[in-house]
Amino acid sequence: MRKKLVAGNWKMNQNSAEISLFASDILSRLQDSTPNADILICPPFVYIEQLKSLFAHSNIQLGAQNVNNNKNGAFTGEISAAMLSDMEIKWCIVGHSERRKYNHESNTELTQKIEQLFSMQINPVFCCGEMLPERNAGNHFEVVKKQIEGVLWNLPEDVMNTITIAYEPVWAIGTGVTASNNQAQEMHAFIRMLVSGKFGDTLAQNIRILYGGSVTADNASELFLMPDIDGGLVGGASLKAESFFQIINSCK
Ligand code: 13P
Repeated sequence: MRKKLVAGNWKMNQNSAEISLFASDILSRLQDSTPNADILICPPFVYIEQLKSLFAHSNIQLGAQNVNNNKNGAFTGEISAAMLSDMEIKWCIVGHSERRKYNHESNTELTQKIEQLFSMQINPVFCCGEMLPERNAGNHFEVVKKQIEGVLWNLPEDVMNTITIAYEPVWAIGTGVTASNNQAQEMHAFIRMLVSGKFGDTLAQNIRILYGGSVTADNASELFLMPDIDGGLVGGASLKAESFFQIINSCK
C-alpha cells in the first residue's frame, strides 16, 4: 500500500517573515491531527536553514527545487547534491516544466541530476507532463512516455527505487484549470504501466505518482481518491498554511 505524499513547491515565493507565520500556523494545525500522508515542503534554497529549525520537531520534511548536474566546481550560482545533503535535505524536484522551459534542461542533464542526488541519498521527484497543444492534438501519452523514457530508462533499478514521479500537465499549472480526476487517473495508470513494463510490477506498484497542476483544498480529496494518484505536488495552494493543511487532510 503506497502512503500518500503531499509536497509543496513554493517556487520563487515567500519571505522570511511569511515563512515564520506559515510554520507556526501549519504546526499548530498539525498538532491536533494525524495526517495520512508524508508531508514535504520545497522552499527556495535560501530559506532551507530557517525552515530546518522551525520544522525540527515536526514530521514535515524539506526538499529542494533544483540541483546542479555536476558534483562540484566552477558553476557560479549553482547548488550541488552534496550541499543539499549537508543541509540534511532528503528530497529534490527534478525536471519541473518551468525549469525545462526557462533553463532548457535536457534529458542528459536531468539524468545526471538524478545520479548526483542518488550519490547523496536524496530522493528525486521527477516531473513530467504535456503542454496544451500536445494534449489538444491527442499526443499527451506519447509526450509523457518520451519524457519518462528519455530520463528514467537510463537509470539502474536501485536508483529508480528512489524516484517519485509527478505528473504535471503544463496547461494545469498555475492556471486554475485542474486535470479532471479521470484525465489524471488515466495518465497515472499509463505511467505505472510503463514503469511496470520496464522495471517490473513490484517497483511499479511501489512507486509514488503525484499529481500537480492547480491542486486546491476543493479538488484534492477527489483527485487523491483515484487509485493511481498517490498525492500531490502543490504550488500556489501550498503557500498558505490553511489550504496546504486542508490538502494534507484530504488524504484518506
Ligand atoms: P500550481 O499548484 O500553482 O498550479 O503549481 C503546480 C506546480 O507546478 C507544482 O510543482
